[in-house]
Amino acid sequence: EARETDWEFVPGPKTRAWGYNGQVPGPVIEADVGDVLEVRLTNSLPEPTTIHWHGLRLPAAMDGTENVQHPIPPGESFTYRFLLRDAGTFWYHPHSNETVQLERGLYGALVVRGPNEPQLDAERVLVLDDVALDRRGQIKPLGGWIENHDGRQGATPLVNGRAAPELTMAAGQVERWRIVNAASARYVRLSLGGRAFTLIGTDGGLITAPVTMTEVLLAPADRVELAVGPFADGEVVPVEALPYDRKTVARARALQFASLHIGPAQASRAVIPERLREIEPLVREPVAATREVHLGFQLNVKRGVNFTINKELHHRDQPVRVGELQVWDVVNDTMMDHPFHLHGFFFQVLEVNGERPAFLSWEDTVNVPPKGRVRIAWLPDDRPGEWMYHCH
Ligand code: C2O
Ligand code: CU
Repeated sequence: EARETDWEFVPGPKTRAWGYNGQVPGPVIEADVGDVLEVRLTNSLPEPTTIHWHGLRLPAAMDGTENVQHPIPPGESFTYRFLLRDAGTFWYHPHSNETVQLERGLYGALVVRGPNEPQLDAERVLVLDDVALDRRGQIKPLGGWIENHDGRQGATPLVNGRAAPELTMAAGQVERWRIVNAASARYVRLSLGGRAFTLIGTDGGLITAPVTMTEVLLAPADRVELAVGPFADGEVVPVEALPYDRKTVARARALQFASLHIGPAQASRAVIPERLREIEPLVREPVAATREVHLGFQLNVKRGVNFTINKELHHRDQPVRVGELQVWDVVNDTMMDHPFHLHGFFFQVLEVNGERPAFLSWEDTVNVPPKGRVRIAWLPDDRPGEWMYHCH
């Protein structure tokens, strides 16, 4: 049930928020590959809504956009029902009046497990967001030319709907963290106080082999799965976002999302396999792009700026055919970063500004740097219908 709820983002004042089942984020939905997910959504909001199941390979009619479904009016229900085909960390959110509904708290994580998951000591889901609260602790209304350009970035970082939580973890253990960036516009350049961690998965589930790093960038809507730890008893590890300049009007700042307190040691049985999964490359030799998608902008008297795709608002692209390999160049003609999201299908990133990425993965969202070019490949499997792609 999508409804209004009084939520304590920060201790003290209650914020008029919107949540699924009265909570922010909505419940974590957990399932196994091969399960059929059935969710009956009741709209108790004062305005129409839908749910988009971000990253899932589902039938077009279940995708939750206004292209495939009439938004559910207040007081009415709709049942989403589809097979879960892939393991990974996904999420769900409205696709109606999305900037407002997402900002107020309508989002949640969906975890789908496969038969061969790496065995770590524990698992947690961290849904990141940033909320803009006024002095009375209420969500600031959207507006102004800066937000119209930059998107909504709030000063209060949230983990699972709470500001600055203290997380605890046992020394000596290695945990699997499934992280979702549910913020409207904030890029999270995630760091654990400079300590190393291991990337094991991205948008479309496990990558082929673990990669150790000290920071990872999550554009809005991105997910990562990390192996975190081991740490020593007594350590306090910040879960923070380093400053990331996505060329907005507002200046990039660092933010601390949470602090992780390490307690007494416990035995570990964690094993991170050297091979996590096999992924067949969709493209083996250099190929030409079959299509270009241009992310651009137009100056606008009323709004300051309009962002466009192929020079249009709500551009309607040529159809693709089932079984025909798509190689798209997503070209950013603007001076700021844009996260490109394709609904319903995973893609592989072939090149970012002419360079091959460091590892092969399945993605549904990729950052396109300012004046940059990202080449992706994807294969439309047999799920005809109308699908969206857009800047998230
Ligand atoms: Cu998170 Cu149109 O998607
Ligand atoms: Cu954008």
